[in-house]
Amino acid sequence: QSSRETAAQVQATIHVLIFPFPVQGHITPMLKLAELLSISGMRVTFLSTHDNHRRLLSSACVRARLARRPGLHLRSIPDGLSEDNPRDGSRLLEMIEGLDAATLPLFREILASSGGDGPEGAPPVTCVVADGLILFAVDVAEELGIPIINFRTSSACSFLAYQRIPELCETGIIPFQDGCDLDKLVACVPGMENFLRRRDLPSFCRSNSVDDPYMRFLKGMIRNSTRYRGLVLNTSEFVEFAALTQIRRLVPSTYPIGPLDGLLQTVESLTSAVEGEAGGVPPSKYSTSLWQEDRTCIAWLDASPPSSVVYVSFGSLALLKGEQLLELWHGLVNSGYHFLWVVRPGLVVDGGADGGVPEEVAAGTEERGLLVGWAPQQEVLAHPAVGCFLTHSGWNSTLEGMWAGVPMVCLPYFADQPVNSRFVGEVWRNGADIKDRCDRATVEKAVREVMAGERGPEMRAAAANLSEMVRECVGEGGTSYKNLERLIRDIRAMSL
Ligand code: UDX
Repeated sequence: QSSRETAAQVQATIHVLIFPFPVQGHITPMLKLAELLSISGMRVTFLSTHDNHRRLLSSACVRARLARRPGLHLRSIPDGLSEDNPRDGSRLLEMIEGLDAATLPLFREILASSGGDGPEGAPPVTCVVADGLILFAVDVAEELGIPIINFRTSSACSFLAYQRIPELCETGIIPFQDGCDLDKLVACVPGMENFLRRRDLPSFCRSNSVDDPYMRFLKGMIRNSTRYRGLVLNTSEFVEFAALTQIRRLVPSTYPIGPLDGLLQTVESLTSAVEGEAGGVPPSKYSTSLWQEDRTCIAWLDASPPSSVVYVSFGSLALLKGEQLLELWHGLVNSGYHFLWVVRPGLVVDGGADGGVPEEVAAGTEERGLLVGWAPQQEVLAHPAVGCFLTHSGWNSTLEGMWAGVPMVCLPYFADQPVNSRFVGEVWRNGADIKDRCDRATVEKAVREVMAGERGPEMRAAAANLSEMVRECVGEGGTSYKNLERLIRDIRAMSL
């Protein structure tokens, strides 16, 4: 009895503040970690910008889950952008500048004062888990003497590739010269010497200057990497063992705890006897979408034969030109398969009316497929009708595709995505990487190959194996499960 009381007292004094970069692909995994820490008994404050806070709370599903997590508090902070700023993929630098100007001082205030807004008055923040893209978080935490852990929402393999950017600049490989051979191998990323080409490096390596604002930002992020007390990655030992081994030489306290959705499902199923399903929303249907999901696509999939549909999505930040969209569409139509395509508001930058979708596409899609503004992606990927995922290779999408065991066609857009797609094509072999080739003939060929071509069975087998293995990693006693236990232990220790 007395040892239980002591544990409870210790827990009450632990207060973790989680601060994601304000975009969907970062909010989703970090909110899942917030739930996991909260389930372990810690007090957790999840800090998001006003706009995302409002969008998150407009979801009945999120509200229902939060209602069952009294230890998890959402708090919001300004992002320094004007009301009419679209906060999309073309505004990342503005987002970074806005955070520096408007968010940093308030962040410092929150950490220096109480850190939460619970009705009973919050205890001081004892540990911060901050997105590695929020460069000032580590400065503020150091200044105030609060332990801070880095959360990078991208893959371990791309983390390693990013780390080599300063060296690639110093040796003159970046910036790429006009006419340079993008298929040339890059020798300096450990473990990837035999397959990582210049074209597979993070997109920012294609910039014209080693000193443009993105490069300066990235160099700051890379310099920061060793200043934290640990590194959390939404990946698993099985998927990225080699890259994780390299990363641990740099950051010994690395915690691969992914896929976080799956881990939350496990932990919740183990604790459900005590607290019941959180908010009546099973974790498999738990969505943290910032956009309203169009669920009509599930009924449409229900009416489709097994493995007959190509699911197409470019995540939350990618932008397409009207002509690229048209090429993709022709490629899909010519493949002969039906498709479900997410055309997010703002996805098409120079399209006309009707959400920027060219007339020809809107009119010609009806008999071939369905266009939706935003889909319940994980439910879609889990649907038996889906046979292939045409993706931009964002890390969340890549993991979700793996979890579902669906082979992919990868058309990366930017950031870490070119690295991820190379791993899909060459290392995990659960799909085809067609980066830099968005023409209709290539898209048609790749879709046919994945759906029913010569390499199709091999890709499907690899996808099925990955699915089985990542599920094992997040199962009770699996590597991600144990890494989470270690993370919780270490946060407790550093909070005392
Ligand atoms: C960004 C980066 O681009 C990505 O590479 C990085 O690793 C994380 O942050 P984003 O481009 O949005 O994210 O891609 P991704 O990581 O795939 O995240 C998109 C999320 O939106 C996924 O969790 C996906 O399930 C969700 N989504 C997408 C939906 O729920 N519905 C949709 O219709 C489309």
